[in-house]
Amino acid sequence: MACIRAAGLTKSYGGTAAVDGVSLSVEPGRVFGFLGPNGAGKSTMIKMLTTLVRPDSGSIEILGIDAVAEPLRVRRRIGVVLQQPSYEPTLSVENALEKYGMMWGVPRDERKRRAARLMDEFGLGDIKHKRNEDLSIGQRRRVQVAREFMHEMDLLFLDEPTVGLDPSARRDLLDYLKERTGGGLTIFYTTHILTEAEYLCDEIAVIDGGRIHTTGTPDELRRRFGSGRTVRLRLDTEAPGLAARLSGIPGCEALPGGTVVIRSESPEEALRLVLGALDGSGAKIEEISAEPETLEDAFLRMMRKDAPGS
Ligand SMILES: Nc1ncnc2c1ncn2[C@@H]1O[C@H](COP(=O)(O)OP(=O)(O)OP(=O)(O)O)[C@@H](O)[C@H]1O
Ligand SMILES: [Mg+2]
Repeated sequence: MACIRAAGLTKSYGGTAAVDGVSLSVEPGRVFGFLGPNGAGKSTMIKMLTTLVRPDSGSIEILGIDAVAEPLRVRRRIGVVLQQPSYEPTLSVENALEKYGMMWGVPRDERKRRAARLMDEFGLGDIKHKRNEDLSIGQRRRVQVAREFMHEMDLLFLDEPTVGLDPSARRDLLDYLKERTGGGLTIFYTTHILTEAEYLCDEIAVIDGGRIHTTGTPDELRRRFGSGRTVRLRLDTEAPGLAARLSGIPGCEALPGGTVVIRSESPEEALRLVLGALDGSGAKIEEISAEPETLEDAFLRMMRKDAPGS
């Protein structure tokens, strides 16, 4: 049975669709990455899946429960870390964890044990007596994520949990999450950072403008989008009129300063056309280099190509 099953989910604000007919399914024990730029619809999607926002249309099944009809049953089984900070300013880190455990009905001894373990795992030991309002942004975010592990859950939703974390805290968190999925937890994870999704997720859906553009494992996405190559030609001069002559060649771009870049899955044909265009332009090639396109490049290129007006 799928842990999350959403079909045709739509939510509009003021006539504009924030999420526009999204369907997806997530199997138990997997990390599902929802990857997209600012305003793509990631948080709106998380809010619908966690029953905080009601969809305009579509259906949601969480752990086999109809989430629109029975939101409370769903909420008891899931953990949620929303994008906006949420904390009680005057509580200490230790008390914040314990209080959260109390809210979830975790017995006292178990609560103490879990809080101690989480403070250790999330590197919060040294600041456990500090009040939340006195913490740095990254520390506060770590408390917010750690606190969610005070209770048992089958499914955890994380909305950009690493924002504000330094590189080492970020890596620690991703490794911690990986370990927890090894223990059976299912995770729905949003980010706009591709490398993070690649590192953590078993499956990635790329969302923009409220729609899923593509879905696949990191390997599949790499094969689908990362197979391109970039050929770069450095010229001895910025030949006048060259940009116009290159403009019709697919994947080709003349940069200021006399550099020509070809981005393509098979750049050979474009290269032949570029060489033809250069012929008689007066410019000489000083250097040619070729490099494989990274998934990040391919992702950005895809987003630009799909952007409205492009
Ligand atoms: N409560 C709301 N009222 C009006 N518009 C909203 C509301 N919530 C979201 N939107 C709009 O819906 C779109 C999607 O927003 P959403 O917060 O889901 O994006 P996101 O992918 O989470 O972006 P970010 O990476 O910046 O967090 C945006 O255009 C946003 O302005
Ligand atoms: Mg968001």
